[in-house]
Amino acid sequence: MRFLKGKDYKDASRKAANIISAQIIMKPNCVLGLATGSSPIGAYNQLIDWYKKGDLDFSEVSTINLDEYKGLSGEHKQSYRYFMNTNLFNHVNIEKSKTFVPDGLAEDDDKECARYNEIIKSRGIDLQLLGLGHNGHIGFNEPDDAFEKETHIVKLSENTILANSRLFKEVSQVPRYAFTMGIKNIMQARKIVVIVSGVDKADIVKEVFFGPVTPKVPGSILQMHNDVTVIGDEAAFSKI
Ligand code: GLP
Repeated sequence: MRFLKGKDYKDASRKAANIISAQIIMKPNCVLGLATGSSPIGAYNQLIDWYKKGDLDFSEVSTINLDEYKGLSGEHKQSYRYFMNTNLFNHVNIEKSKTFVPDGLAEDDDKECARYNEIIKSRGIDLQLLGLGHNGHIGFNEPDDAFEKETHIVKLSENTILANSRLFKEVSQVPRYAFTMGIKNIMQARKIVVIVSGVDKADIVKEVFFGPVTPKVPGSILQMHNDVTVIGDEAAFSKI
């Protein structure tokens, strides 16, 4: 596991964007596993900037997102599809048909999970980008008694609902369930890049990367992957 410390969020984001752009340059038709949340926004902005300067080409890139709220359409402003469109896809030359996010409005949960799993398995993820929830969740894999392997529906924890309510008008509007890739899906990515920022992530960064590997702290499984780069600002790394 490598730890790359940025001076601040912008610097950390640029480091993450550097790794992603190297992946695209070395393998133009790569499959990127992408994440939402505040943490990757700086990296996405940097990638857009490099694309606009002519340094990056997304025309052959495919993307597979980690998760989506159940019950939200892709047009809903808080959906992860909307997030990805507005924070990255609309600003680069990626083909939308090659960008995958679970369908929050799918009527049959099992079918949607099977469909999404097939998308992941048939393509394979070259580089998976991750943020970290305050309880150690990755994607929406919440603390549990066992690691869930593949794409599944998850009941969000109160902690996660509260943390994510900052983006909704009120807590009651936050969906209670989500589709998420499973831990095995994530662990099968060839390379993993985790972005963390802010002092509020300092404790969980220590627990996830230096504590025991347990499904009670889902991200701790990343200690078992052979190509993980954790990129953070000084605040997020202040306890390690
Ligand atoms: C959400 C997402 C995760 C994300 C996490 C942290 O719950 N499902 O994929 O990593 O929040 O978000 P943030 O980066 O905003 O702290």
